[in-house]
Parts: sequence; C-alpha cells; structure tokens
Amino acid sequence: MATRTSPPLLLLLAALSVLFCHAAAVHNPAGGGARVAAAAGPGDDTTKVYVVFTERQPGTAELPEAEAGAAIAAFHHDMIGGVLDADSSSAPDRVVYHYSRSLRGFAARLTDDEKNRLASPLLPLLSREDTVAAFIGFIQPTDINIDTVPRHCRGPPKVVYRPQTTRSWDFLGVPRHNDPTRLKFENDVIIGMVDSGIWLDSESFSDEGHPPPPAKWKGVCSKNFTSCNNKIIGARSYYGGNTTLSVLDREGHGTHTASTATGRAVAGASLGGLAGGTARGAVPGARLAVYKDILAAFDDAIADGVDVISASLGSVFAQEYAADTMAVGAFHAVRRGVVVSVSAGNSGPMLGSVSNVAPWTISVAATLTDRRIISELVLGNGRRVVGSAITVFPNLGKPSLLVDPGGCDHEQLDGKRYKGAVLLCGMAIDISSEAISLTGADGAIVYMFGDEDKDTAFSFAVPAVIVMEEFDHIIDYNNSTSHPMVTVKKSVTVKNAAAPSVVEFSSRGPNRATYGVLKPDIGAPGVDILAAWTPEATLSGSEVDSRRTKYNIISGTSMACPHVTGAAAYVKSVHPGWSHAAVQSVLMTTATPMGSGEPEAELAYGAGQVDPVRARYPGLVYDAAEDDYVGFLCAQGYNSSQLAAMTGRRASAAACSAEARASAVGDLNYPSIAVPVLNYGVGFAAEFPRTVTNVGPADSVYRATVTTVPGIDVAVTPDELAFSASTKKLSFKVRVSGTLLPANGTLGASASVVWSDGRHHVGSPIYVFHHKHVM
Ligand SMILES: *[C@@H]1O[C@H](CO)[C@@H](O)[C@H](O)[C@H]1NC(C)=O
Ligand SMILES: *[C@@H]1O[C@H](CO)[C@@H](O)[C@H](O)[C@H]1NC(C)=O
Ligand SMILES: *[C@@H]1O[C@H](CO)[C@@H](O)[C@H](O)[C@H]1NC(C)=O
Ligand SMILES: *[C@@H]1O[C@H](CO)[C@@H](O)[C@H](O)[C@H]1NC(C)=O
Ligand SMILES: *[C@@H]1O[C@H](CO)[C@@H](O)[C@H](O)[C@H]1NC(C)=O
Ligand SMILES: *[C@@H]1O[C@H](CO)[C@@H](O)[C@H](O)[C@H]1NC(C)=O
Repeated sequence: MATRTSPPLLLLLAALSVLFCHAAAVHNPAGGGARVAAAAGPGDDTTKVYVVFTERQPGTAELPEAEAGAAIAAFHHDMIGGVLDADSSSAPDRVVYHYSRSLRGFAARLTDDEKNRLASPLLPLLSREDTVAAFIGFIQPTDINIDTVPRHCRGPPKVVYRPQTTRSWDFLGVPRHNDPTRLKFENDVIIGMVDSGIWLDSESFSDEGHPPPPAKWKGVCSKNFTSCNNKIIGARSYYGGNTTLSVLDREGHGTHTASTATGRAVAGASLGGLAGGTARGAVPGARLAVYKDILAAFDDAIADGVDVISASLGSVFAQEYAADTMAVGAFHAVRRGVVVSVSAGNSGPMLGSVSNVAPWTISVAATLTDRRIISELVLGNGRRVVGSAITVFPNLGKPSLLVDPGGCDHEQLDGKRYKGAVLLCGMAIDISSEAISLTGADGAIVYMFGDEDKDTAFSFAVPAVIVMEEFDHIIDYNNSTSHPMVTVKKSVTVKNAAAPSVVEFSSRGPNRATYGVLKPDIGAPGVDILAAWTPEATLSGSEVDSRRTKYNIISGTSMACPHVTGAAAYVKSVHPGWSHAAVQSVLMTTATPMGSGEPEAELAYGAGQVDPVRARYPGLVYDAAEDDYVGFLCAQGYNSSQLAAMTGRRASAAACSAEARASAVGDLNYPSIAVPVLNYGVGFAAEFPRTVTNVGPADSVYRATVTTVPGIDVAVTPDELAFSASTKKLSFKVRVSGTLLPANGTLGASASVVWSDGRHHVGSPIYVFHHKHVM
C-alpha cells in the first residue's frame, strides 16, 4: 500500500494536488498516531492499527537511553507476543511505535481476533500485573486530515490562497517587534508544532539574537536534521518508529503554520508582489519544536517541555473522545500544563461539522480579515468579471483567445494544443491542472456552483480563475462573437468591510460528542494568510507548477489555529505557570464578540475573534484541572474502561464517583455555556455552576451584566463577587430558562454574562439551540 514508502498523510496530499477538485479529506490509513512502515501483518486487509495503553512499563530511569528503549520494546513485544495469530509475523514486525515518555503504550497492527484476545481479562499477563504493567485499553486512531483546504470538491487541492499574512497580526492589534532580547520572557516559551515538518532556512526562523534554549528544554533534533538552531530547538520525525527520517517540510503546511505562530518579522514578504508587507508571528522570540506525527508527537512534546502544542489536524467529524487520537494526546498534554490549540475543521457551514471538540483543547474557527484577494478577467467587450483565485504568473494581462475545448479533464485535453488560448472549462469537478498545463494554454476559466467558497482564493498550477454566477456573462459573450477574447489579470487585494466574520468553510457546532459544550471555542484569521513556505513544494502544490516561493498564501482553519497558538504563547510569556484551562479561559473571555450575521452565531465563532493583547490582562479566570475533565467524562457516561484508555490509569483506579456520575456535562467549569433544548416552544431551565479565580488586583469587586433576547432569561447568583487577598476563588450559578422559539433567521438564541470590575471585562457566551435541528 501507498503508505510503505512515505508518510501517508503527506503522500496523499501530494497525490491530490494535481487535480482542481478533490475531497478535502486527506485520509491517513495508518491512523493518526502511527506511521506504518515496517509493520507487516497477516495481510494489510485484516489488520488495523491500534494504540494500546499500558498502566505501567518497566522502570528504566537507571538505564542508558538505548537500553531503556530496548527494555520497553521487549516489554511491548512480550505483551502482544502471546496473542498473535499462529504462523503470522512476529511481535516486533507488528509494533509500529513505542510510546514511553509522556504516554505509556504502543501502536501495533492487529487483527480483530488478536485485539479481542489482548482485551480478554483471561490473558495471563494480567497475573503479572504487579511486576510489569497491565493492559488498560486501546483506541483505534482517528483518520487525520490536514485542515488546510476547504472541504469537498469545491476547492483546489491545495489551498493556496493568498492575502495578508502578516496583515493578520496587525489586524488583531498585536504590536510588532523583532527584538527577542528586548522581550526576554518570550525566549522561554516553546511552541510544539505537530505538522508536516519545517523548512529551516526560511528567514522567518532565523535565530539571530536568540540565546541558547531554556534550561527546561529536554528535546532533541532528529539525527538527520543536524541544523537546529536557537530558534528551531527541536525536530522529530517518526515513520514506522524510524526516527532518523527527515523533518524537512515537503508540503509547506508546517512551515506556514510555524511562521504564523512565531516567525521573525521579515520585511518585504509577498507572494509575487501580492499581499506584500512584513511577515511575522505573534511571538518572534518564542522557540519552535517541530513534530512530524500525531500521538508520538504528543508523547515527545510533553516530555520535551513545550508550553503550547499547535495541531492543525483533525478527523472529518467529531469523534467520541476516547476514540480520538488528538483528544487522547491532548488530554495527556493538558494534565501536564501544556496548552493545546487545534483547528475546528473545514467542513462548514454544515451544522455539527466541527471535528476537534474535546473541552481540554481550544478549537479554532477561521475568520476573514479586512483584506481579501480577488482575481479579475476582462472580456473582449470590456466587461470585467471578478473571480476567486490567486493568480500570480508572469505574462498575465495580455488578451488571449477564449476557446471551449468541451471539457478540461485528461481525456478531453489529451494530445491537444491550445497555445495562446484561455480555456473555457465547465464545472470545477474533473478538471486537471496537469492536462491544462500540457496543452500549453494561457489559462482556464472554471465554473464553481454555489458561493460557499466565494470568500476564499486558491492557487492553481496554471493561470485559472474560479467564477461563480458571472460565468453566465462569459458564456453569453462566448456565443456573441466568433473571436471571443479574454484577459486574465494578476490578482489584487481588496478591502473586506465585513471583517471579522466566519468564513463559510469553517466547521460549525454543535459539538456532536457533547451538545452541552460549545464548540468551536474561538475564531482567528484563517483566510488568505501569507506566511513562510518551503521550496520543496511548488506554489500551488501541484507537480506541474514550476513556481517556487518563500512566502505563500493559503487558507483553512489550519491557518487560524496557529494564530491562537501564537496568542496562547503570548499569554504564556507573561504568565508561564498558567494551566491550559486558564489560558483557554483568558483567550475566550477577552475575545471580541462577533455576531455579524452568521445564522449559526456562536456555533460558528464561539466566544468571538481572539484578542491577544487583551488576553494578557483578563481579571478573572475559569480554571480546570485533570480531575475536572475526568468528572466531565463521568458525567458524559464514560465507563471505567473508556476512562482508563483516556487517562492511562488502570480501570479499577479510574472508576467514577457517584457524585461525578450524577453531575451534568454543563457543570464543567468552562468559559462558555451551551444549552441544547429538546423542543421549540416548550419551557426549559438549566443551571450552570461556575468558579472564577481572581488573577487581577486582590481587592476587586466584580458585577455581572447579562444580555439576552426575548423569551430567554439568564439569572446570575450571586451577581456580585468581592475578592480579597485571602479570597481568590468565588463561585456562582448561571440559570438559563425560558422558551426557545423557532426561526428568526437563526438556529438558536444568543445571550451572555460579562463580569466586570470597571476595568476588566470577562465575557462568556451563552447559546441556546434546538439540538434536533442538527439532523
Ligand atoms: C530508517 O530509514 C532509513 C532511510 O530509509 C533507513 O536507512 C534505516 O535503516 C531505517 N531505520 C530503521 C530502524 O528502520
Ligand atoms: C536526510 O535529509 C536529507 C535532506 O535534508 C534527505 O535528502 C535525506 O533523504 C534524508 N535521509 C533520510 C534517511 O531520510
Ligand atoms: C462557446 O462558443 C463556441 C463557439 O461558438 C461554442 O461551440 C461553445 O459551445 C460555446 N461554449 C459554451 C459553454 O456555450
Ligand atoms: C452557446 O452556444 C452553444 C452552442 O452553439 C449552445 O449550446 C449554448 O446553449 C449557447 N449558450 C447560450 C447561453 O446561449
Ligand atoms: C465501556 O463502554 C464501551 C463502549 O460502549 C464498551 O465497549 C465496553 O465494553 C464498556 N466496558 C465496560 C467495562 O462496561
Ligand atoms: C429576533 O430578531 C430580532 C431582530 O433581529 C431581535 O430583536 C430579537 O431579539 C430576536 N429574537 C430571538 C429570540 O433571537
């Protein structure tokens, strides 16, 4: 299978990039956590990769690294050796990866029978529980996608779009600076990027002026990546357990997201002159550690000492938490104080499409900034047509003959020459950049049905412009003359007065794993983002594209996620000891409410647009720790074996208390409130206990202000909180009641609670919605 020679996720992205139209879902057959290389089973058809968690593992603290690794590997091999089908391959052939640093367990290819034998309580290894480790459960890793490209067949494969990358930090009001020695505290923040690798030589990753890594850093550079510096302080790749492979970014995605979060300011960056300006990240002083895999990356990143993990990856739909590799990895990160920022997914605007939904992660929606990129055509009759594409090629701007080849797929264009012509292609489906390129055509005009992608521009391997309803004008013109001419112009940036608003492709709530937890959490710029690129990939990602670029413009919740990662690092640089929940809380409670007309309202943008500068001075924090998340899972109805797989604790030690079991998911001390109701027009009432910790001046008095809509009552008790030097934490209850009425152009009703002492404003969105409405 295709995954034998190259990391499947990356390989599939590349394979798709020849087409205009592709499913955005990049399926990773090896599963999120593990690359399958050496692993051989009784046949790839019958085995699946499972991550097997163990309660303990042999103590190896005294052993040198190589011996420790061998001891743990031997232990894992021993564990599955007894359950493998007769006359099949040996245990070492089946194990894909050993997790031993922050997680305990391994990933292995197993048949259903083998998996069931391993899960059987009759397994002899349980009797050795006191000497070694007990099997505690497993998950089948989720299929993982890179969240760059808007979904389905609407976009080109590789999203390359281009607007203002760096413009996005200006838009968010983050002050520009490029002097890491001036902001020394930033130097202690380490961001772990779980992505497609990195292009080290980008100016965005210069380590000029950076001191050596902070003392807490325990990571390494992979053996084949000797050129780490004081900016990129770690780099690991894992393929089938092979850690000598390159972390070189062949896709561009990892380089792009890393530079968005923490790139140095580089003046004069642009994509072929488009969207020019200074490219920069939020925290240019912060350090980068790069991990090219999922669960293995969490295992290492946590142990290496990163402060924030950024993962612009996700499954296609929300998974139940214990079956979601990302959720499990993030759980282990968060319990160690690491902040985890993830992308919401690119399957919007469908309701219920948000995919990274664990309450211990920050799920980021993609918003539009005040700058957009458009593409323009001028017809021979003088009519201008605005299209959506990033068109940056030499020799644009001259008239070409418009030719209708009857279709733009391989079959129709095979062997034809259209030099000097712009092809009038039909629907975006079945159009091949490669075939168009082979004809020698000057460009192509493609029709896109629907306007879901009207706000997003993509790059193509050939000068191609996507046209929506105005396609009719082009056809009329084509039929009106025997020599139709068209001029494809270079893209330009235009002002987007509607900003910030959530882009159509950004996945919407509600959270299908738990309707009572609002997701996504927050919005951040994710459309037309200019950031660093790898010369290993072409501008459009297609092999027939010959253009290379140092900076590229792409779109996706993948691009929004590193903005929140950067904002989290910005907060961590001033509050290094804060928990994941505290950082998540301050980002959400200081976000700018949006409400700019999306019918999905809070299900599109959560708390609103991230505001990194305000987030540093939040006043109050909704904190939570591991036990709170375990309590939440108990309220969700998790049984002991599911809880064991999530927490890495033995099932008998992971039982829920009766109190936890009787609690509600809405009791989690979350900075937002979701109220799913069963019926329109029927009265409801729900109560949400919350506790805030004062992180501002000691003697502060906060008062609650409620906003709501007719029919929905929100009561806060008490509505005044007086903090002092000895009273840092205070609790209150929010009671939401009333009757939800249908329609009004929205799915539900928006309300909010804002606590204020006059200087700080700590806002929580409340969203009441009819959950049956979501299919
Ligand atoms: C890792 O991959 C490299 C390059 O393909 C190969 O030379 C090496 O033997 C592999 N190591 C292991 C442990 O599989
Ligand atoms: C090591 O990296 C170089 C480029 O940095 C690459 O060409 C080579 O294939 C890599 N080796 C392995 C074993 O991956
Ligand atoms: C464009 O014009 C040509 C020549 O008149 C015609 O054959 C073709 O069908 C037209 N294309 C469309 C899409 O109408
Ligand atoms: C354009 O001409 C083609 C073929 O002559 C015809 O099939 C098509 O319907 C015409 N389109 C319009 C919009 O007149
Ligand atoms: C826990 O729930 C899972 C999923 O529903 C089920 O497969 C498993 O058997 C349950 N375990 C116990 C101990 O009830
Ligand atoms: C319905 O819409 C109107 C006008 O936008 C608004 O004033 C009212 O509060 C809305 N009602 C609900 C229940 O959302």
